[in-house]
Amino acid sequence: MNIAIDLGSDRTRVFVENKGKVLDEASVITYDVDTHEIFAVGDEAYAMIGKTPVGIRAAHPLDGGVIAQSDLVEQMVDIMLTELCPVRIVNPKIITAIPCELTEVEKLAVVNAVSCLGAKRVYLIETPKAAALGCGIDISSPHGVFIADIGSGTADIGVLSLGGISVSKCVKRAGSAMDEEIVKYIRKKYNLVIGTNMAESCKKAVGCVVAPSEPKTFRVKGRDAVSGLPRYVDVTGNEIMGAIEEIAKDIVNAIRDVLERTPPELIGDIYTDGIILTGGLAGLQGFPRMVGLATKLKVRVHKYAPDCVIMGCGRAMSYIGKSERELSGGVSPLLTAY
Ligand SMILES: Nc1ncnc2c1ncn2[C@@H]1O[C@H](COP(=O)(O)OP(=O)(O)OP(=O)(O)O)[C@@H](O)[C@H]1O
Ligand SMILES: [Mg+2]
Repeated sequence: MNIAIDLGSDRTRVFVENKGKVLDEASVITYDVDTHEIFAVGDEAYAMIGKTPVGIRAAHPLDGGVIAQSDLVEQMVDIMLTELCPVRIVNPKIITAIPCELTEVEKLAVVNAVSCLGAKRVYLIETPKAAALGCGIDISSPHGVFIADIGSGTADIGVLSLGGISVSKCVKRAGSAMDEEIVKYIRKKYNLVIGTNMAESCKKAVGCVVAPSEPKTFRVKGRDAVSGLPRYVDVTGNEIMGAIEEIAKDIVNAIRDVLERTPPELIGDIYTDGIILTGGLAGLQGFPRMVGLATKLKVRVHKYAPDCVIMGCGRAMSYIGKSERELSGGVSPLLTAY
């Protein structure tokens, strides 16, 4: 059986052949620091972040699209696939998306993490290719496609043509780094200590990178850094913009850098078609406009932006086991099989 796993820094998504997306859970695991006993994974574990008693941790074991704590990632994936997944998975062939520019060691860590349940084979696909396939684009044609998948840990930017990546760049600060900046801002400005989940809710509710047309506020609740008592403040979208715009600018600069390195023949196609944004952070208010202003190109956010990568991994299953002849001269988007 063929399955696909998109092991994101924020969410883990699983696709099963002939069934579609069957699992979408937070990439979080809650465990006992001393005994390593696991208490929860996924959304249940996410709800525990910042609320666990001493000795228990709720952690995102992936950071910047890279496996930060391999044993925790392996256990998280194992529990998700055995206990949370509604489909019984046996001896699968697995396709998994990886950020561009991973080292061989980092790639192997991903392969090990998804190899649970006796995987027969693991195939890797770079995120921009998977995102483009998920948008329904024929990536094997000699037509340039500019795509940027902006998630929690990475912004993966690539120009694709003839099934391959012509130019790419991976920025390792995206949505979760913005949450951390919001935490720092609220602490500095209001002497209020808040958690990253509160910061993420604030970013989704009022976060923006272009001044909002109607002023909205969001109530952040936390602990007063001086008195130690519970307190809240109402923050505006403009304030949050100040806290997160540096990270957004770095991503936009990376997009410009990729454009500047794109071969002239492909630039013509991109000029006509524009830039496609996928990933959860593409939903950040004003972000597409910011990219459009900086590049003078059309910018389109896919309707199901956060799901494009996993859907693309699902589509890439059609390349498994195909020889070059069967691909009629085309190139498989799948990288090494392990
Ligand atoms: N409407 C929204 N506004 C702002 N940010 C959003 C919105 N929806 C989701 N996000 C952010 O998008 C990020 C999650 O995106 P996504 O699911 O693509 O990440 P991921 O695939 O888990 O991570 P990565 O691919 O970077 O490893 C989170 O930081 C989340 O807060
Ligand atoms: Mg992702």
